[in-house]
Amino acid sequence: MRNGKTLLRWMGVMVVVAVAGMGCVMLSTTDSAAATPALEATDSGAPSAMVLFPVSDKPNPKGAGMRPVVFNHLIHEKKVTDCQTCHHTEDMVACTTCHTVEGKVENGKTIPPLDRAMHAENIAPRKGNTPSSCVSCHNENLKRRECAGCHSIVKPARNEAYCATCHNVTPAMTPKQMKLGSEGKLPAEENAALAAETVLAKKPVPYIAPEDVPYRVNIDALSEQYEPSPFTHARHLSSLMRRMGDDKLAAAFHNNPATLCAACHHRSPLSATPPKCGSCHAREINPAAPERPALKAAYHLQCMGCHDGMKVARPKNTSCTTCHKERAN
Ligand code: HEC
Ligand code: HEC
Ligand code: HEC
Ligand code: HEC
Ligand code: HEC
Ligand code: HEC
Ligand code: HEC
Ligand code: HEC
Ligand code: HEC
Repeated sequence: MRNGKTLLRWMGVMVVVAVAGMGCVMLSTTDSAAATPALEATDSGAPSAMVLFPVSDKPNPKGAGMRPVVFNHLIHEKKVTDCQTCHHTEDMVACTTCHTVEGKVENGKTIPPLDRAMHAENIAPRKGNTPSSCVSCHNENLKRRECAGCHSIVKPARNEAYCATCHNVTPAMTPKQMKLGSEGKLPAEENAALAAETVLAKKPVPYIAPEDVPYRVNIDALSEQYEPSPFTHARHLSSLMRRMGDDKLAAAFHNNPATLCAACHHRSPLSATPPKCGSCHAREINPAAPERPALKAAYHLQCMGCHDGMKVARPKNTSCTTCHKERAN
């Protein structure tokens, strides 16, 4: 019932736009439709992928600093089966119908601006349906066991590469399309063609393979009371990768061949030959950088932080001699 209504609405939008845009729009739509291979159709009737623009209430929006976002509705509706998780008002319409770049008050109700609707991280639970932003739901996903190990020791960088994973529409977009999009007037077919082009051009970055990292690393920076710790380096990497599987959220955001290394080899440029922990963590706490753990604590907090996060059964944190044998003497 709802799906049927939705489909009609969507088609209605297309017809209105086509009529309003007249001949030249019709021509360019046919062109791009012919040139773009189609994506698999959705069950919901929503477009398989669409460009989300920074729609503004201003009469003549220039568009914003960020590239618009291509949202893959198809993969999302396969994984998130309840439409209302995202369409929190139960209206199957563009979020920008209500959430504009500036935000607004409508019928005495404050509607948060677009960037909050998309990025808000700490959304207080509501009595009825609690809205989800893109980022709040992705954060929830990081609590799954297969992600929680690394993600309990990783501090999110929120750098340019992170933003670009979503703000990714193909550079082929014209200034005119950008302008129409920001006014909420880009013809639906042209929007879908741009989105499909971006989705089809996207390829996951191949990770550095476990075969290409040191197989075993004998951690001996400290070893006084205990023998060095024979760390199963490659096995750790392959085990973490196997658990992660082909999760598309992980594949998209782990956007450098060395991203996974940075879970442990942090705070230095991504590299296949990262610096030793001891090059930044000294044996004693440095009073000038009291936040930074001393070397023994750095190892323990990292090893055990991940094991706790993933509920690894063995070794227990208290079974000291699984990680380093007692010295013989
Ligand atoms: C999970 C996906 C996602 C990530 C990651 C993301 N954004 Fe966005 N952002 C969106 C969506 C969707 C919109 C709404 C569509 C649009 O404006 O392009 C948006 C809108 C915005 C807007 C308001 C519209 C505009 O262009 O002025 C700003 C500013 C913005 N993002 C900045 C950022 C910055 C900076 C980062 C990185 C720190 C970032 N975003 C990361 C999804 C994301
Ligand atoms: C993970 C979040 C999410 C889920 C789940 C989801 N949607 Fe969407 N949907 C969106 C976003 C984001 C848009 C783009 C809105 C925009 O253009 O601002 C959208 C757009 C749509 C549109 C096009 C609206 C328009 O007029 O532009 C329809 C129709 C739609 N969704 C229907 C559904 C249905 C039906 C379901 C359940 C089967 C569903 N959606 C599940 C996030 C979601
Ligand atoms: C019919 C209007 C309407 C539509 C359509 C709509 N929203 Fe909202 N949204 C609101 C209003 C009103 C609020 C404030 C009320 C509240 O927070 O419960 C809100 C709040 C939110 C919040 C909470 C922000 C915060 O700071 O706590 C998020 C996140 C959000 N919306 C995301 C979305 C997304 C994503 C879509 C599209 C899939 C969407 N909304 C579509 C009206 C709408
Ligand atoms: C309710 C949860 C939820 C919301 C809300 C959500 N996502 Fe996602 N997102 C997921 C999940 C789950 C996956 C992984 C899907 C898979 O593995 O098939 C994913 C994957 C992705 C990916 C990687 C796959 C791809 O498309 O290349 C991107 C990018 C992404 N989401 C962007 C967004 C943007 C932009 C929004 C907001 C408009 C959003 N997501 C809202 C749950 C969500
Ligand atoms: C081997 C370690 C490792 C595993 C396992 C892992 N990640 Fe990550 N992930 C990282 C690192 C490192 C970053 C980059 C952090 C940075 O640069 O800020 C990252 C970043 C991300 C980001 C960007 C947002 C953020 O908060 O930084 C998302 C989304 C993400 N990972 C999803 C996943 C998902 C989903 C899984 C599980 C299916 C997963 N990851 C498993 C190491 C890992
Ligand atoms: C998950 C693995 C792991 C567990 C469990 C573990 N450690 Fe460690 N520990 C390490 C690593 C790695 C080092 C660094 C080894 C080095 O540099 O020689 C280390 C170093 C040490 C050191 C400093 C080096 C030395 O030989 O004096 C002490 C002391 C130590 N651990 C005590 C303990 C005690 C006591 C327990 C049990 C309560 C324990 N550890 C449990 C991994 C572990
Ligand atoms: C689960 C945590 C973890 C992950 C993931 C990880 N490493 Fe390591 N790696 C370590 C630890 C711990 C050491 C020992 C560092 C020390 O004691 O200074 C190490 C040491 C190394 C060394 C030095 C070996 C030696 O003998 O001195 C190299 C090279 C290295 N790692 C490369 C990588 C690369 C490349 C990746 C990603 C493909 C990666 N590592 C992923 C934890 C990890
Ligand atoms: C390039 C310098 C550098 C290297 C190499 C490095 N760290 Fe760190 N580490 C830092 C900094 C910076 C902090 C943040 C604390 C601070 O602000 O000083 C930190 C913090 C930590 C923390 C506290 C939790 C957190 O993430 O803030 C742990 C645990 C840790 N490091 C373990 C390690 C281990 C184990 C290695 C080797 C695999 C390592 N570090 C390598 C610079 C480094
Ligand atoms: C990012 C997550 C992560 C970090 C960091 C990590 N581990 Fe592990 N560890 C695992 C997982 C997952 C397993 C279970 C592996 C399996 O059997 O599939 C494991 C298993 C182990 C085991 C038992 C199996 C084996 O390979 O011997 C030991 C011992 C161990 N870890 C030591 C360490 C030490 C020492 C460190 C720190 C230098 C460390 N781990 C850091 C995730 C992690």
